[in-house]
Amino acid sequence: MVGHLDSKVAVITGAGAGLGQSYAMALAREGASIVVNDIATGQHASFAADETVQLIKDQGGNAVESYADITAIAGGESLLETALDRFGRVDILVNNAGILRDSSLVKMEENQWDAVMQVHLKGLYSATRPIFSWMKESGGGGVIVNCTSTVGLRGNFGQTNYAAAKSGVIGFSSSLALEGKKYGIRVWCLGPAAATSMTAHMPDDYKKVFHIDRVAPALVYMVSNLSGEQTGKTLLAGGGWVGEARFEVHSGYVPNENFDAQDLARAVAEGKVMFPERNPRFVTAYGPVNENRE
Ligand SMILES: NC(=O)c1ccc[n+]([C@@H]2O[C@H](COP(=O)([O-])OP(=O)(O)OC[C@H]3O[C@@H](n4cnc5c(N)ncnc54)[C@H](O)[C@@H]3O)[C@@H](O)[C@H]2O)c1
Repeated sequence: MVGHLDSKVAVITGAGAGLGQSYAMALAREGASIVVNDIATGQHASFAADETVQLIKDQGGNAVESYADITAIAGGESLLETALDRFGRVDILVNNAGILRDSSLVKMEENQWDAVMQVHLKGLYSATRPIFSWMKESGGGGVIVNCTSTVGLRGNFGQTNYAAAKSGVIGFSSSLALEGKKYGIRVWCLGPAAATSMTAHMPDDYKKVFHIDRVAPALVYMVSNLSGEQTGKTLLAGGGWVGEARFEVHSGYVPNENFDAQDLARAVAEGKVMFPERNPRFVTAYGPVNENRE
């Protein structure tokens, strides 16, 4: 059977568990060879990455494990080396590794802030820079997908660190999409919603609807020819719903020479400056904003 990713090589960070494992298996089913990266130990005292590699081999695919910690550039360089040593190239990078260190801001310790920035933002730099550079030099293009979250778009109580990091992922990706354009390197963001260890606190109803395998089809679309030349975009996917998210600027109000705060207040009251309400589709797909969890 012909897959959408036959002869492609994909590197996926944090692929020993959760969504990363689901992505790795889905891309392998489409014919890609996978570098499965994770630092965590798995259920059987081996590395979690080994378990994903075994699952991919069991379904007839190709995969190699990587235990690199992507919070340092050396980890990112080792990811590239593993891909080149084993498969000779890299066509796809999925920056999926993530952690949570939740706390309301007044209780948030410096180490909670730093740990989230290290994995989500420093890890993004460390894993992407070597692979993006290789793609650029190779001249064969590529696709990079960076995992963001609705939390980065609209916030969540107790997650200032995570929200700042996940907004940062979008800014990074918008900039890299511009840098990659003339080399045929496409860059996307993917904001998933799925029942994993990260969302273990969610109610059982959520876990039924947000089944983990309902996100990977969006990833396959993004990294394959199915999405053509699209780049610099963010898709949200999960629970049987997929939609684009973007920062939008209101058409706005052009003040006259009498512009002052009072004048602006009037324009705001007349609906000329701010958006009227949240996009209701966005809210129904992912539930209401959590404003008071402690
Ligand atoms: N589950 C959701 O609903 C949801 C929602 C929005 C965004 N996300 C994002 O999706 C991604 C995957 O989340 P998940 O729910 O599958 O979480 P998960 O905890 O199940 O998996 C994350 C994996 O990343 C690995 N990891 C952490 N630090 C690492 C490092 N330094 N180097 C290599 N690997 C590392 C962990 O060991 C773990 O296996 C994360 O970026 C998360 O922020 C998830």
